[in-house]
Amino acid sequence: MARPKIALIGSGMIGGTLAHLAALKEMGDVVLFDIADGIPQGKALDIAESGPVEGFDAALSGTTDYADIAGADVCIVTAGVPRKPGMSRDDLLGINLKVMKSVGEGIAAHAPNAFVICITNPLDAMVWALREFSGLPHNKVVGMAGVLDSARFRHFLSVEFDVSMRDVTAFVLGGHGDTMVPLTRYSTVGGIPLPDLVDMGWTSQEKLDAIVQRTRDGGAEIVGLLKTGSAYYAPAASAIEMAQAYLNDQKRLLPCAAYVDGAFGLDGFYVGVPTVIGANGIEKVVDIKLSKDEQAMFDKSVDAVKGLVAACKEIDPSLA
Ligand code: APR
Repeated sequence: MARPKIALIGSGMIGGTLAHLAALKEMGDVVLFDIADGIPQGKALDIAESGPVEGFDAALSGTTDYADIAGADVCIVTAGVPRKPGMSRDDLLGINLKVMKSVGEGIAAHAPNAFVICITNPLDAMVWALREFSGLPHNKVVGMAGVLDSARFRHFLSVEFDVSMRDVTAFVLGGHGDTMVPLTRYSTVGGIPLPDLVDMGWTSQEKLDAIVQRTRDGGAEIVGLLKTGSAYYAPAASAIEMAQAYLNDQKRLLPCAAYVDGAFGLDGFYVGVPTVIGANGIEKVVDIKLSKDEQAMFDKSVDAVKGLVAACKEIDPSLA
């Protein structure tokens, strides 16, 4: 059987890291696409040349021609511009919306059966726009945010509790922005929910609140340190986990920016929710029960995303 084909639309910092990870994990053959001629070809060749040392057989190629993504099983989209210090994800809206239009049309024309994972920010609005421009089924177009935000939360928690990250689970829902909703009740260390760990005296509410805030600011913390762009290692790893769930029909329960129609009181809207990813893409949106406070935070986050979607419709009336 032929190896799966993975198309990476955008070959910048995240795109290059995605290609490297996909090759190392032997997920399939990788096509890097970008509008900046030379970058995708150079990165593909550089990674391919590590193959004999690493011992992978995946084929890598770089292109500026959408025809070369033909028949891709997975497309991961990072095309666009990243944040610089002082910018919010929302500041990227106008530029990246135009990029989503060309990417959506390219995917629709050449890889209409792909599972599409969007990473470009502002994420929730961009994945919505990408779905609109591509016309692909909603269950095949999803945004990567919750896995990354939850990974950041898990990392901070494992350091606080001094336990292995493998024993820390976490759920971050809502939009991928300042209003994201880290759910402490559904986050655990060794199966023990975080509020119980506070009751047990293993940490304090103040420390937990600070970790929740650091998670919300996780992207900005990296931007502030790098100064030249935004995070790429953890975002790439997170999207790879989602791609593997699809390619291997793993039925992973992962928080993603998915199209929610009915659950959480939403009617046809992209936002971060728990999902099951398998061979049919987003196979299920898990409609968990939220407390009054959690629901209020979630609603606030949904409102923020609605504002961004409205702004997209103003910029590009074809989306209205
Ligand atoms: N089509 C294809 N590629 C494009 C287009 C386009 N229309 N416009 C820009 N690009 C390419 C750029 O040439 C660049 O190589 O997208 C790439 C983006 O790479 P980086 O600038 O390195 O950005 P990166 O850190 O990878 O982040 C990409 O993901 O997390 C988000 O906020 C981040 O929106 C940003 C995106």
